[in-house]
Amino acid sequence: MTKTAFAFDLGNGYVKAMNSKREVIAPSMIARESAVGSSSIFNILKHSSNKGYEVFESQLDDTTKYVWGEGIMEAVAPESLIATYTHNDRYTQKRFKLLCTFILAELASDFTDEELLDVVVVTGLPSQEIGTEDERKFKEFLQQKHVVTRNGEQRMINVTDVRIVEQPLGTLLKLYMNNKGQFHEELLTSTLTLLDFGAGTTIMDTFKNFKRLPEKSETFYEGMNDLHRTIAKELEKQHNIKGLDPAYVDEGFRRGDCIAEVSDRKKYAFEGIAKRVIEDFVDKCLAEVDRTLTNRDSVDKFIITGGGVNIVKDYFLEAFKEANITVIQDSQRANLEGFYKLASLLSQ
Ligand SMILES: Nc1ncnc2c1ncn2[C@@H]1O[C@H](COP(=O)(O)OP(=O)(O)OP(=O)(O)O)[C@@H](O)[C@H]1O
Ligand SMILES: [Mg+2]
Repeated sequence: MTKTAFAFDLGNGYVKAMNSKREVIAPSMIARESAVGSSSIFNILKHSSNKGYEVFESQLDDTTKYVWGEGIMEAVAPESLIATYTHNDRYTQKRFKLLCTFILAELASDFTDEELLDVVVVTGLPSQEIGTEDERKFKEFLQQKHVVTRNGEQRMINVTDVRIVEQPLGTLLKLYMNNKGQFHEELLTSTLTLLDFGAGTTIMDTFKNFKRLPEKSETFYEGMNDLHRTIAKELEKQHNIKGLDPAYVDEGFRRGDCIAEVSDRKKYAFEGIAKRVIEDFVDKCLAEVDRTLTNRDSVDKFIITGGGVNIVKDYFLEAFKEANITVIQDSQRANLEGFYKLASLLSQ
């Protein structure tokens, strides 16, 4: 029987997911279908073409239809978005589980089979949760037959094999494992410190010979979302406005113009503020890094990954002053690529 390989990286900010045919990057937010405006012509038009979200029903909650997809932030008002990521008992929360089943259904939708019989899933958790009760609960939940309806079509996804690894390990697998599952020398012999700049967390993990060294690893519960929020607050003060959604700041960074574009008439440039806020964040982060490592000399190589690399990279390199540092390109997808490599090997 052929196995199907799925991988996903479910972060505070974004879901990154992949099968053999496609990759999905979408916010870690869901909404009730009823929260999508249905009367305006705008929404009617959007419905007919590329609307940016799909409609899901899950056996976890068979009374409600939900929507999720890359365009969900545009389709649903901010107050109706349901964030799925909490630091608190995440794996037993319904909204977190719902999102997991939607990811599985989205990945399954690329296959013609109504039922996928033998699915291998590789995913990650924040490193300090590996080996805990949380990991066990997450794995137990994933490894079962999921029944989910996507856009009216029922999908059955029988997950038979679940592997959960430290999130930043995905980046190492991408860099140091080939498609035959062989590892590069460097992964086995060197001490490698990764910094993963995420939306809600900044994770520092040090690995040697595949093992994470806990005394040289640390999770900081601050990330790019906090930067976006701080910048939005500063803009509110500067322009005497209220309720500026940090999502506009996120978009401004992504476009690269550093402008919070609320509407055609209301655009707020934040390059100056961003510089200050980024420097503060990186300085604080480096202080933590040095406190945890005590001595940087024991580390052979530093690697920076996670979507936040796009934001902090320039100042980080300037302030960190280490020559042996690898900056991951396309950093938001790096962990996912490693997870998928592993899933693909396991499915052969
Ligand atoms: N090209 C880009 N330009 C600017 N910002 C980006 C870019 N790509 C990603 N980001 C931002 O980087 C941040 C981190 O993204 P990432 O997907 O790594 O976080 P996450 O995995 O969801 O969060 P966490 O690791 O904390 O759970 C997000 O706020 C995202 O908007
Ligand atoms: Mg992440």
